[in-house]
Amino acid sequence: MRISGGKFVITGGASLIGSHVADRLLAEDAGEVVLLDNFALGTPETVSHLDGDARVQLVKGDILRINELYDAFKGADGVFAVAGFLTLPLTQNPPLGLAVNVEGQVNTFEACRYAGVRKLVFSSSIAAYGEPGETLIDEQSPSNLASYQPGSMLYSCTKLIGEALCKLYSANHGVDAIALRYATVYGERQHYRGVNALYIIQNYDRIRRGLPPVLPRDDSEVHDYIHVADVARANVMAMASEITGEVFNVVTGVETTVRRIAEILLEITGSDLEPEWVDDAGGVKATSSPSLKLSREKIRAMLGWEPVVSVEDGIRRLTDWRATQG
Ligand SMILES: NC(=O)c1ccc[n+]([C@@H]2O[C@H](COP(=O)([O-])OP(=O)(O)OC[C@H]3O[C@@H](n4cnc5c(N)ncnc54)[C@H](O)[C@@H]3O)[C@@H](O)[C@H]2O)c1
Repeated sequence: MRISGGKFVITGGASLIGSHVADRLLAEDAGEVVLLDNFALGTPETVSHLDGDARVQLVKGDILRINELYDAFKGADGVFAVAGFLTLPLTQNPPLGLAVNVEGQVNTFEACRYAGVRKLVFSSSIAAYGEPGETLIDEQSPSNLASYQPGSMLYSCTKLIGEALCKLYSANHGVDAIALRYATVYGERQHYRGVNALYIIQNYDRIRRGLPPVLPRDDSEVHDYIHVADVARANVMAMASEITGEVFNVVTGVETTVRRIAEILLEITGSDLEPEWVDDAGGVKATSSPSLKLSREKIRAMLGWEPVVSVEDGIRRLTDWRATQG
């Protein structure tokens, strides 16, 4: 599909990821970008940098109200299904989180079918794999959900349902669809809703207030931190490709300990504060494993995507942005 001149809708357009997908679409000369959001979690400020761009339309709409999707999707070439509740908000509000992630996703597909939208790119998550082991995880790996915290398990199940919808609507209903399994996404316009990205944003905000960064007692916990600009590029490449019915990891393949995150933040800020280790640094957890080996071979081979932002550069981009905030 051609991005240049096309019309694209981003559900959850006022999100961290949606706002960067919009930036990427505009950089590639998209003709029209509709940001649909009910502002349950995101805010219009997240996309205020796009105010005044005649190609961008910010629409208050709810994916739980299918009629609002019918209106927004009219004439659209593609939809980025980004709206969703992460593990933290879903754990805080299971009825709404489950409704948005499951019923809202079904509505999104139905509205695509009704409006004749050619393609949908779905924001899935590596949470679909559950607890990682020592071995390399690729898209063929089974889900290991039995030992997950209940909130994480629910979140994972909603993402697996979204992926099954991608395959179903792709095979049976003429809506091409790709699911992208993101690792821990972070970057400019970072929020406080991602449990693993909290180690970056919360600790940076603490250091700025003269407080020590806080780490879990076992700070060998690793995550795969992927910068949001790389995620946005993967979304647009998935939309542009003619591939359908596939699931791809969108990961760096690099394991970064939470201790290293604190070191990077202390280096960037030139702070001599010592981290503080506590028994329960975050409460709700996704994975907290000392090993997380994720393969990015399939997306490299089929879409030609590779990450370009290192965790050091990405965290600097986040902190540069944050420093401009109140
Ligand atoms: N951030 C990550 O680390 C990460 C990792 C893997 C997957 N994901 C997935 O990517 C997507 C975006 O993540 P994010 O970090 O940008 O999230 P976010 O919390 O910034 O954005 C979610 C957006 O969805 C909107 N929304 C919620 N309910 C809605 C509804 N009923 N109708 C319309 N909009 C609604 C919210 O207002 C918010 O703007 C989510 O689906 C998330 O599950 C994120």
